[in-house]
Amino acid sequence: MEVTQAAVRSVQHDLFGVLGRPAGHSLSPAMMQAAFDVLGLKAYYLALEADDLAEALAALDAVGFRGLSVTVPFKQEAMKLCVHVDAAAQRIGAVNTLRRTQGGWEGRNTDWLGAVRALERQLSLQGVTALVFGAGGAARGVVYGLTEAGAHVVITNRTEDRARELAAALPCSWVPMESFHRVKPQVVVQTTSAGMSGRPYAFRVPQNFFTPQMVVMDIVYSPLETPFLRQAKAAGARVVDGLEMLLYQGIEQFSWWLNRPAPEAAMRQALRRAAHERKGKAVHE
Ligand code: ATR
Repeated sequence: MEVTQAAVRSVQHDLFGVLGRPAGHSLSPAMMQAAFDVLGLKAYYLALEADDLAEALAALDAVGFRGLSVTVPFKQEAMKLCVHVDAAAQRIGAVNTLRRTQGGWEGRNTDWLGAVRALERQLSLQGVTALVFGAGGAARGVVYGLTEAGAHVVITNRTEDRARELAAALPCSWVPMESFHRVKPQVVVQTTSAGMSGRPYAFRVPQNFFTPQMVVMDIVYSPLETPFLRQAKAAGARVVDGLEMLLYQGIEQFSWWLNRPAPEAAMRQALRRAAHERKGKAVHE
């Protein structure tokens, strides 16, 4: 049976959600529902798990969902199913945000904006040297954002070929893992899954690498204080945990969907509370 737009629709509340597999661990529902509630908006934000992305998007369109956050493993595939995607998403090769239009889903990437806004609360990125650990999908967004904000980016990665490919694609510089300590960055961003709860911590960062002049961010937020951030903090660096990037990418999503400023304080509080409640369980947006 074919699903049509007229089959059923939500008439009292606007519907939003995060679409992934798995999605049950996501902290986005706590953050986004808090935003809707504090502004008195009649809207629900749900965690949605799907096997087939194309089928899921058709169904959610038919039911009338207004906006979606897209997470692992659908960020690349979602881009191909959009009627339009913004220039940043095209460069990054992934969308994390969808908005329903008459003609279909429109896609955008706010991950890079989340990284930039979280860091720019600490310092201006214009002209600084930034060292990024990792060369996966998450690194791509972060490197794009840092470059857009005017930073000189150097990446390093366990698998050198991936570092070389990403550096050529974006473009930015890269160094082998053995020599990252020679880069003298003002900003350091850890984008790999090393350091997530339940995974072995693989980085050997020399004792004197971190300095009090640095701003160090880890995009992992389970645990909130990763071994990487703990070492940076012990050296006196200013640290930014992974929830800040999640917060700011969510703030950008909210204002794109609703065309109004997001309630930052309420979202931060809800996000931190939800993360605290889930402490110990592995979560990765
Ligand atoms: P994501 O989209 O979350 O970035 P990904 O594309 O699979 O996921 O990339 C994972 C990143 O984490 C890669 O940079 C990976 O390094 P490799 O390219 O060498 O695989 C890095 N990574 C994962 N586990 C790691 C570990 N234990 N030590 C070092 N790097 C690790």
